[in-house]
Amino acid sequence: MKCYFAARVAVALLILPAATSLALGQAPDRGAGRRAATAGEPTPPIISARARALPAVARHGMVVSQEARASRIGVDILRKGGNAVDAAIATGFALAVTLPRAGNIGGGGFMLVHLAANKKTIAIDYREVAPADTPRDVFLDESGNFVPSRSQSSGLAVGVPGTVAGFELAHRKYGSGKLSLADLIAPAIRLAREGIDVDEDIADSLPMIARRLARYPSSRAIFLKGEAEPLAYGDRLVQEDLARSLERISATGLSGFYQGETAEKFVAAVRAHGGRMTLEDMRTYQVREREPVRGLYRGRDIVSMPPPSAGGALMVQMLNVLEGLPIADLGHNSAATIHRMAEAMKFGYADRAEHMGDPDFVKMPIKALTSRAYADKLRGMISLEQATPSAQIRALDLAPYESDQTTHFSVVDSQGNAVANTYTLNFSYGLGLVADGTGIMLNNELDDFAAKPGAPNAYGLTGGEANAPGPGKRPLSSMSPTMVFNKGELEIVTGSPGGSRIITIVLQIILNIIDHRMNAAEATIAPRIHHQWAPDQLRVEDGISPDTIKILKQMGHEVREQPTIGSTQTIHRSGGMIYGAADTRQRGGAAVGY
Ligand code: GLY
Repeated sequence: MKCYFAARVAVALLILPAATSLALGQAPDRGAGRRAATAGEPTPPIISARARALPAVARHGMVVSQEARASRIGVDILRKGGNAVDAAIATGFALAVTLPRAGNIGGGGFMLVHLAANKKTIAIDYREVAPADTPRDVFLDESGNFVPSRSQSSGLAVGVPGTVAGFELAHRKYGSGKLSLADLIAPAIRLAREGIDVDEDIADSLPMIARRLARYPSSRAIFLKGEAEPLAYGDRLVQEDLARSLERISATGLSGFYQGETAEKFVAAVRAHGGRMTLEDMRTYQVREREPVRGLYRGRDIVSMPPPSAGGALMVQMLNVLEGLPIADLGHNSAATIHRMAEAMKFGYADRAEHMGDPDFVKMPIKALTSRAYADKLRGMISLEQATPSAQIRALDLAPYESDQTTHFSVVDSQGNAVANTYTLNFSYGLGLVADGTGIMLNNELDDFAAKPGAPNAYGLTGGEANAPGPGKRPLSSMSPTMVFNKGELEIVTGSPGGSRIITIVLQIILNIIDHRMNAAEATIAPRIHHQWAPDQLRVEDGISPDTIKILKQMGHEVREQPTIGSTQTIHRSGGMIYGAADTRQRGGAAVGY
């Protein structure tokens, strides 16, 4: 730990010339903005004359997901007496049918479960793992060069899927006990067998991936018409093989997926495309229950995902830095606020690259990273006047990055139990390859490893030994299902897709509600920004004013406007009511309550 602080102190010295005014200069931050909510005070004023967007409202329970049919299925389960965990599992299985680009049983993810009765929150890690036969240099050629096609579009990219095991464990340990796993899978089986009308989201997403899908007869048969034409709006998407795979889980539980016909076909597809997965890898897949990462922000308890997600630790670190700054007074998306957020983000992502990986294999300084003392030190290194170039924080390889297609859903029931679940295939439609005869899309999650120190993955993220590929390892993630508690009471449940940007997206939902006193819908639609240290670019969505961008550029930020960032699914409890907002950045989401 001592070495760790020493390393950061060295960094501090590097940037000192640019930063001398800053540590001294935090007092003058004054503005005419709003006061941040304090502990115990409900946030935000839900019905307010200034609100330009209003959340859905319910009294008993709510499901917010990226696909309306799946949200409704979850609420049906709540109405039948299921708890939030039951509803989440039914929603998750349904999304595997109705949102096939990200909902899945062939991928993995993270679930936070909050149990109101004993005020306990558990982090369920059902991340994909690398097969046992995964050497350190699995994605390198003979000369030691990183070959992205191996980690993104071959069977080597496929991690042993965790979704079914994660849902099974959540149901067995934390479900209401009133509904069987088969009850929760049944709606998904029906939708897969009877088919669904192709909605705007599927119609929008297929053309972008059609060429990849067209390579594989098994994928073509489901998502394309003829050789290459994607299904279009109003066409029918029938997934008979997926229905049968879901039925096998329904009939025999875990063994219906991790052994027998499904496992054999899944492994055969991986190996036919150059992968090394075995039936033994499938049979021995293990879910992990982990202690969430916790922080305190303006009197609220922040509870989020621990490694192998970098999300919780980075978010708590950034919030710790920002808590010492008058964010509310400086105003929402003012240049001053964006600058402070961006600088805090840079430090977080620099630490991500250096320290983080699979906790079963590497020891990480999570306590140090999330400590107040460390945040004080980082805050002291932020110049209030000038952007600190990422290169002065550490030498970098700059890289482009792409969007991703993970998905998140949030659930709250009438007892105050809650689930925040983020899961993924990594890319949109994962590898693009359906395992023949199963209807199951293969993930390409192993691209989230740092294939080689300094070599960026598809999101432009770099990393070192801590996140190197290896047998049985889980690649580092950014997925950040998160809950916020006010005096012990559940207040916010949120999360998002967005690849490397997930962490800063969720951060902004929290800041928008707590500091800027927005309701869930306003917090959702507000324009977002993102900085991930490498590349040294401040990404902004449309909606940040040109004046603000000009000031940010004058401060030294390289500002890049980019397509929309993320798709949050947020529930906010306040004054005895439940409010929800599905992100409008993507089509088809719905906050459904009763
Ligand atoms: N595959 C994106 C993530 O896990 O962060």
